[in-house]
Amino acid sequence: MKMFYSQIVRSMSTTVRMPQIKKLVVIGGGQMGAGIAQISAATGHNVIICDVNDDVLKKSKATIEKSLQRVVMKKYADDAEKGKAFISETMSRIQTSTDTKSSVKDVDLVLEAIVENLEIKRDLFKDLDAVAPQHTIFASNTSSLPIREIASSTSRQDRFGGVHFFNPVPMMKLVEVIKAPNTSQETFDSLYAWGQALGKTVVSCKDTPGFLVNRLLVPYLLEAVRLYERGDGSMEDIDTAMKLGAGYPMGPFQLLDYVGLDTSKFIIAGWHEGDPNNPLFNPSPLLDRLVAEGKLGVKTGEGFYKYGKK
Ligand code: CAA
Ligand code: NAD
Repeated sequence: MKMFYSQIVRSMSTTVRMPQIKKLVVIGGGQMGAGIAQISAATGHNVIICDVNDDVLKKSKATIEKSLQRVVMKKYADDAEKGKAFISETMSRIQTSTDTKSSVKDVDLVLEAIVENLEIKRDLFKDLDAVAPQHTIFASNTSSLPIREIASSTSRQDRFGGVHFFNPVPMMKLVEVIKAPNTSQETFDSLYAWGQALGKTVVSCKDTPGFLVNRLLVPYLLEAVRLYERGDGSMEDIDTAMKLGAGYPMGPFQLLDYVGLDTSKFIIAGWHEGDPNNPLFNPSPLLDRLVAEGKLGVKTGEGFYKYGKK
């Protein structure tokens, strides 16, 4: 019988002990961190969100409350009381802190969702490795960086994996769980089970650039920018074409703005550095210019398009 990679990985795991993730720290309270904290708390996990200052953390909590209101409008359309209780119970499981080192002292998982930069991520995990309990699993939500290279700054490469969520986290049904060469089976199983406990469909992937989704999605997004840079079509027409002609919910320029142009630029720059002869990974002068001008997309109010004030 034909078995897929994910099935093989799971079938090997039936006899090993699998630490359960109940309490976690999410580092980075931006678009992704806030979403990951939200769905974790909504499914009964206790979460601490850590970021650089209190203003960012206030914004994370406000974003989560707003998103929960949208969820409740659908899930508890006929029962306002239950909806209110769901929001307050979820919010009660979320704490915030700017003291990352103290926050990791008593958790099962540290999930990192900070800026897409290898050295910054490595430094963060190196510091946390010294203070986190032995059993604590570390995981990165990186879009594009090799998990093994982030993990190698720590002494717990066996307890280190990738968990890649999609934006907007409360709506997107998929999670990719990445098994780096040194990730233990127990760690992989714990992360896989955690993804399922969050209500997501989980796919597994080797530690390969872009994992499954971004390896296909990011070259497509950059090709759309090149199409526009060559003057072959307007941004609006390319977006309309992909929505109506390919059934995508957003056009490529809308999606780039939604993901964040900084993150998109860091992804392609990293891949280009690793494989400079691959034309799919060529950087885009227009994308680079927008990022240099601080136009990062929806999160700053302007990217390829202009948005309401943020
Ligand atoms: N929280 C809660 N609910 C939300 C939400 C959020 N953050 N965002 C949207 N929703 C809900 C809305 O309340 C709405 O609910 P109803 O159907 O009950 O009205 C529903 O989702 C649809 O939202 P909208 O009407 O506002 O807009 P939409 O129909 O265009 O959907 C979208 C919004 C879900 C974002 C959709 O456009 C979409 O799926 N876009 C593509 C997103 C995508 O491709 N993400 C992956 C990016 S790549 C990535 O993440 C990986 C990486 O590493 C870069
Ligand atoms: P973002 O810019 O919205 O948020 C990043 C947050 O990290 C900011 O609030 C920043 O203050 C904080 N931060 C930076 N350095 C920190 C540190 N040392 N300690 C604590 N907090 C720190 O970015 P995002 O879109 O949420 O992306 C975060 C990560 O998730 C990146 O690795 C990105 O590649 C990945 N990712 C992004 C998307 C997406 O669509 N945006 C999707 C999947 C994965």
